[in-house]
Amino acid sequence: MPREVRHDATGPTKLDEDDVDEQKGDIAVCRCGLSSDRPFCDGSHRATEDEDEETVYKYEGDDDEKPRREIAEIVYVDEESSDGD
Ligand code: FES
Repeated sequence: MPREVRHDATGPTKLDEDDVDEQKGDIAVCRCGLSSDRPFCDGSHRATEDEDEETVYKYEGDDDEKPRREIAEIVYVDEESSDGD
């Protein structure tokens, strides 16, 4: 279920009354990180419905043939060596 999501925004989007969905009467804010209409939910979260609890995923946009990959390990380039070197 965990997933790596890249965010490019550097500030908030303020919501107002115009953001309310007239048909549903609510505001759905994306919490999965996959929406193309952030901060609003666009239904992209449906791609996460069959995620495995123990697997970390990377979603690769609109690639219909391979929309996500499983991540085996995340390596940080600025992390010091763990063996003391
Ligand atoms: S919660 Fe992210 S697209 Fe719906």
